[in-house]
Amino acid sequence: MRDATPGQSDQTIFLSDYAPVPVTVSHVDLHFRLDPQATEVSARLTCRRQRPGDMVLNGEHLEMVSLAIDGTPLSDDAYTLTDTTLTLHDAPDAFLLETVARIAPAANKALEGLYMSGGMYCTQCEAEGFRRITWMLDRPDVMATYDVEIEADLPVLLSNGDEVSPGKWHDPWPKPTYLFALVAGNLVATSDSFVTMDGREVALNIWVRPGDEGRTGYAMDALKRSMAWDEKVYGRAYDLSVFNIVAVDDFNMGAMENKGLNIFNSKYVLASPETATDTDFALIEGIVAHEYFHNWTGNRITCRDWFQLCLKEGLTVFRDQQFSADMRGDAVQRIGDVLQLRARQFREDAGPLAHPVRPESFVEINNFYTATVYEKGAEVIGMLRTLVGADAYAKGCTLYFDRHDGQACTIEDWLACFEEVSGRDLSQFKLWYSQAGTPRVTLRDSFADGTYRIDLAQTLPDTPGQTDKAPMVIPLSFGLLDQSGKEIRPTEVFELSTAQDSVSVELAEKPVLSMLRGFSAPVILDRDQSDADRLILLASDTDPFNRWEAGRGLAKDRLLRAITEGAAFDDAWLDALSAVVQDEGADPAFRALALSLPSEDDLAQTLHAAGVVPDPDAIYITRRAAMLAIAEHLADVLTPLRDALRTPGAYDPNATDAGKRALSAALLRHLTLLDGGTASRAAYDAADNMTDRMAAFTCLLDAGDTTVADHFEADWKHDRLVMDKWFMAQVAHAAPGRAAVVAHALTNHADFDPSNPNRFRAVVGGLTAGNPAGFHAPDGSGYAFLADWLLKLDASNPQTAARMSTAFDTWRRYDADRQALIRAQLEAMAEADTSRDLAEMVNRMLG
Ligand code: TRP
Ligand code: ZN
Repeated sequence: MRDATPGQSDQTIFLSDYAPVPVTVSHVDLHFRLDPQATEVSARLTCRRQRPGDMVLNGEHLEMVSLAIDGTPLSDDAYTLTDTTLTLHDAPDAFLLETVARIAPAANKALEGLYMSGGMYCTQCEAEGFRRITWMLDRPDVMATYDVEIEADLPVLLSNGDEVSPGKWHDPWPKPTYLFALVAGNLVATSDSFVTMDGREVALNIWVRPGDEGRTGYAMDALKRSMAWDEKVYGRAYDLSVFNIVAVDDFNMGAMENKGLNIFNSKYVLASPETATDTDFALIEGIVAHEYFHNWTGNRITCRDWFQLCLKEGLTVFRDQQFSADMRGDAVQRIGDVLQLRARQFREDAGPLAHPVRPESFVEINNFYTATVYEKGAEVIGMLRTLVGADAYAKGCTLYFDRHDGQACTIEDWLACFEEVSGRDLSQFKLWYSQAGTPRVTLRDSFADGTYRIDLAQTLPDTPGQTDKAPMVIPLSFGLLDQSGKEIRPTEVFELSTAQDSVSVELAEKPVLSMLRGFSAPVILDRDQSDADRLILLASDTDPFNRWEAGRGLAKDRLLRAITEGAAFDDAWLDALSAVVQDEGADPAFRALALSLPSEDDLAQTLHAAGVVPDPDAIYITRRAAMLAIAEHLADVLTPLRDALRTPGAYDPNATDAGKRALSAALLRHLTLLDGGTASRAAYDAADNMTDRMAAFTCLLDAGDTTVADHFEADWKHDRLVMDKWFMAQVAHAAPGRAAVVAHALTNHADFDPSNPNRFRAVVGGLTAGNPAGFHAPDGSGYAFLADWLLKLDASNPQTAARMSTAFDTWRRYDADRQALIRAQLEAMAEADTSRDLAEMVNRMLG
């Protein structure tokens, strides 16, 4: 072998450096001889030269057993092998590359590549996990057909495509490595079938460990509804004779769209009324749809390189949001999506991790599976649809599918389809992909001499590596109401595309403006809105998103003034809130959303943006005080309202019943502040489903009940997914001063297994996301707890450690003492010998 230069593993990769491979692979033949300690992977790659240059294959954590070209072992000077690459010098124009690699799946705790979970073999190849299986061009622009043979003494052997004979699979659709999958184990299937719009029958299987087969019904139903929806709405049919889903306990993320063989975190497949909450059911529905929709947006048409990740993720999130809105109702879905966007993406955009929807550089691509790429990426698709209109959007999608089927594409390819069908120049719109940060739209309105005038200005804040940004195209949906709440101008879209602009309307009297209907653009609206206007919108707006938004504005205003000035909670607000909560004409799910206050982190984010240093304890205390004021105001109606919300008959996860349970739980939370837990105790004992049980359980924890946790544990000790809830709830609902202590104690529990990401996230995320005042405890105990566990986990699972480290990304918001405490933790992590994943995150956060 020729001399190897040491692998440079912490290099920055740039979008501008993209170059196609000199030698490509068109077919992959794989043979697996599975063994926990020594799996043998034999690969035969059909290679063809496209341009001059060495062929550089990726390969990591592989032991080389043999290497040959066209049947002849390679001479030492024909190749160079490093820890991360295999370089072939002077390869011929067309050849068969044969390698045999040895790997140890049982030792793989990173959960990337081939690993073992609960006794079964499974794979995770996105983004760059295939290189831990064998040497290959592990990049999305190399698309090949696959033949896979699995040898193992196990009953179920699965891979992508169609099964040719037991353990032998053929995938006729060319795909990149990241969509490869293999599963082998003692599994049982729930089976069903689906007939496509072109009349082909598809076998559907959900594979689980024996004992879990009773919990697959909802996921199967969601799958069939997803298949039908994609045919109806996007004209896309499934393209193989079988679609397999496998549930795996140890999984770094939610699920993975491997061609014909989706692999899921078991949390997003398994559900029964006794074990899963309404939220779990909704997430299962959305994620099953998301992974299924990737079959077209991601698999048939994939990404040229990882900078284009939003091409598949933003679009697929947009599609799953459309699907969920159709299944569950537009208004509540949109409010939920915007809550998520603000909580995760606006937060990211406002801190040191801000990056464009299409980043221009990265060190570790796993660190860019972010709220910005996913959620803001979906918002950008939604704005595109608003700007070109629903018809052109549909036509543009069809053109995209027709033109690019089988290709690895870029954002430019995608946008060109919409420019073509709409005749619109999208070059300014494209700035949404390259400029990071949340635009701030300042709005001032005035009325004089029969003219109503709205003045608008946009600014885009500086973000790491980006200053002096250009104005973007911001679609602002708005409508006007009169002072009695009657709509006088229906929704229209104003395109703000310059730094400043204005809209004028001739009117007899000053109207009430309903701006940014449906949250038509991911921006922060900066305006002085009167209570009077908000009350009219809350009572009467025809746009349900803005009805909710008006109520949220009132609540946020009160909370911020209580935090900064000690202002009391006024009856006008409490009356308006109780009116919505008691409005029997409104959807209970909507009423539950109206009753829930802005989160502690939302308040911290808003205070910081207004130039005020947030105090996590003051936020926590004030928020509790507001809830108590609401509870006292509603005292007489809490119980009768709850009684009226009872759903008759057996538990059903449908959205209507779920909405009633959500409102009932919100009322119970308020009632608990008044009765110390009496009603919650009764609700806990009476619960016949996990939604009601968890609601009562967390209320009792809030009330300081010291016995319920033990009861819960005794009932559910045997169930991993339910016990994740138990771990998380105790940390999230601990008094802030005790949160780190509780979290620490739980890490000593016999069932705390940090190598299981769900369990790790339950305890660590229970603190960082579930208990902000506890995480930010002034003594630094929360920070120390997080940093300790990140370093421990990083040694085996860098991907999840890096992801969880983002809890520190808001550190510059806080006071000097807290900043010093966090900085010390970040600096200690920067000094430690960590993974590329965690090191990149820590360096970016330190800035
Ligand atoms: N592509 C997957 C999705 O969005 C997510 C994903 C990316 C993933 N990397 C992963 C899942 C690693 C599990 C592990 O659906
Ligand atoms: Zn996805």
